[in-house]
Amino acid sequence: EKGGYPHFMLKEIFEQPRSIMDSMRGRLVAENTQLTMSSIREYATRFKNAERILIVACGTSWHAGLVAEYMIEEFARIPVEVEYASEFRYRNPVIREGDIVIAISQSGETADTLAALELAKAKGAMIFGVCNVVGSSIARATDAGAYTHAGPEIGVASTKAFTAQVTVLSLMAMMIAEMRGTMELTALRTLMLEMEKIPAKVEQALLLDKEIQAISEIFKDASNFIYLGRGFNFPVALEGALKLKEISYIHAEGYPAAEMKHGPIALIDENMPVVVIATKDSSYEKIVSNIQEVRARKGRVIAIVTEGDTVIPQMAEFVIEVPNTHEALMPLISVIPLQLLSYHIAVMRGCNVDQPRNLAKSVTVE
Ligand code: F6R
Repeated sequence: EKGGYPHFMLKEIFEQPRSIMDSMRGRLVAENTQLTMSSIREYATRFKNAERILIVACGTSWHAGLVAEYMIEEFARIPVEVEYASEFRYRNPVIREGDIVIAISQSGETADTLAALELAKAKGAMIFGVCNVVGSSIARATDAGAYTHAGPEIGVASTKAFTAQVTVLSLMAMMIAEMRGTMELTALRTLMLEMEKIPAKVEQALLLDKEIQAISEIFKDASNFIYLGRGFNFPVALEGALKLKEISYIHAEGYPAAEMKHGPIALIDENMPVVVIATKDSSYEKIVSNIQEVRARKGRVIAIVTEGDTVIPQMAEFVIEVPNTHEALMPLISVIPLQLLSYHIAVMRGCNVDQPRNLAKSVTVE
């Protein structure tokens, strides 16, 4: 059942080229600049005229929502708010009839997410679901939706569901952009062609496994970790930190890199591992300075960089090179080494990676 892997989590990490492909299948033909998502087409007028999109989710699905916020705002120019479902539902939120609410959930059974969408529905918003489990409560409660075809996710730590969510949300962002005419057709086509190459690039990133295992050996006894990223990689920093804490029980904080100097920088000393997602994108120069700030305080930098980077390898103690892609799609690749890092560290610490203490696969109580 684990397909020869020692744990479901590792199997699911390695399934990602396939699950991403399955989540795109029938929806994207880059050559013809063609996107097919019938549920979005059906609500074309709503999406075209949407004044605002609210995303509600929990945990890892909330992180996928953050990536979607950056993509939808960049490509489709619709303001997006990403909400923790548990906060949203209890704070008397402002919901208008022209709003679209996107609920993201792997299990489709998360109690807070379900309650949040019911509330928004009662106030007249259109509800769109991005779920993995077919026929789940959330999928049934929505007006329309698009499934992530990740297949069953057994490991409690979400891995392939996250990349499948980001895949579907990217396609949605592209399709809404196309309908609204907010993106040049050539730029859209380039993005779509890059999207098609993602499964092969994820496959390539998975080859880093041995290298990451060696780094894990060095840091397995750490009691804290900091994860930093900017722009599209900021949600990846949060996700990397969440993966590490939930399965290895090491305290980890994810932060937007520039926010570090407003507090967390005080934590940095020669014992602090700092994972920096520093791929070549529009915030590259800025993140290079952030790495310098960490080095100046003797933090131990593990940097995720773009293949061929010559600058960061001179500054960081460890570098992990990933294939390049469009910056908006980088989360699909940069998250892979972080999943592997948390997995190996947890195994080395003797933790039960598939069923971490105190956690349930789907949180059906609030
Ligand atoms: C983290 C994790 C949780 C879930 C969260 C939402 O690895 O698995 O944070 O992402 O409980 O679950 P779903 O997506 O089923 O609503």
